[in-house]
Amino acid sequence: MRVGTSFLALLSLLPLLLSPQFSSAQLPPDTGISSRTLDAILQDCAFKAFLRPKTGVPYGGQVPRSLNGIRVSAMRLRSGSLRTRGVERYKEFQIPIGVVEQPYVERLVLVYHNLGNWSEKFYPLPGYTYLAPVLGLMPYSGANLSASELPELDIRASDKPILINFPHVKSAPLGSVPKCVYFDLHGSVQFDILLHGNVCSTVQQGHFSIVVESNAPSPAPAAAAVAAAAAADVRKSGSGRNKSKVWVIVASLVGGCLLLIMLSLLVAKVRRTKKGMKIQQLEWAAESNETLQIASIGGTKAPLAVGTRTRPTIENDYIP
Ligand SMILES: *[C@@H]1O[C@H](CO)[C@@H](O)[C@H](O)[C@H]1NC(C)=O
Ligand SMILES: *[C@@H]1O[C@H](CO)[C@@H](O)[C@H](O)[C@H]1NC(C)=O
Repeated sequence: MRVGTSFLALLSLLPLLLSPQFSSAQLPPDTGISSRTLDAILQDCAFKAFLRPKTGVPYGGQVPRSLNGIRVSAMRLRSGSLRTRGVERYKEFQIPIGVVEQPYVERLVLVYHNLGNWSEKFYPLPGYTYLAPVLGLMPYSGANLSASELPELDIRASDKPILINFPHVKSAPLGSVPKCVYFDLHGSVQFDILLHGNVCSTVQQGHFSIVVESNAPSPAPAAAAVAAAAAADVRKSGSGRNKSKVWVIVASLVGGCLLLIMLSLLVAKVRRTKKGMKIQQLEWAAESNETLQIASIGGTKAPLAVGTRTRPTIENDYIP
């Protein structure tokens, strides 16, 4: 009974211990820059590309040399024009009519990111391989083009979704299914089906790419995510969250070991009970008259058994 209850208690604790604490926004790459800091840097670079910007024309920005390989652009739009006409094509993005921003601004700037070979650094996704670079679409207020550290606007496609056409997609390994991946600004990750022609769709701003599950045998995704988060945090060093992450891993390990021990105890107990039942059955069978006769036919020891076992039978016959 006791074994059973503690086993159940452990079982109910396990999901807590192994719950995914995966937030790519908090995973700093080797540069020490988080993906959110990168967003701010790229907003600044993109806005600097504007001198006398025409609306609806993309301008390419310069990224710092330390971020070589990332491409950024900016396009200024009247919000009324975005809503009623959309944008036929802005790099890989196709913006339909009916997209509105929140809060309302008269002019907005759509900043485009192509993270190129930095995709995995800023958006690490354990267990998955990128087949295309991570692309970003980030809307900002276009009221002050010298402003920096602007908050993103929230855009929503109300009619049709925004489409992302990925032109150069690596071929997926045989038998694996490529998926669209979406990162929102808070670091949460969502997967979606890949549409025909390497197209992903979205109704809001964020970062997008195409991934495929890695073939490499990896631990359970949740465990891997926790491990990755902890590893990244250790790299970051010094914060209290490190200890809690490490604690979570240690607790999971200890929990796992305990679970194993409990399981083996249970198995042993079940076996013992079964064995006991078998012996009882044998004894019971041996005591009954019929088995005695069957057993005595074959073996050389049969007469002995008959000698010892007949007595109780006779006694039994005596009593009634
Ligand atoms: C990406 O490629 C550029 C050269 O095109 C290089 O300077 C940069 O270090 C690379 N970044 C990463 C993360 O490998
Ligand atoms: C635009 O932003 C810059 C930098 O934050 C600030 O110095 C400037 O006063 C702002 N201009 C307007 C018109 O708000």
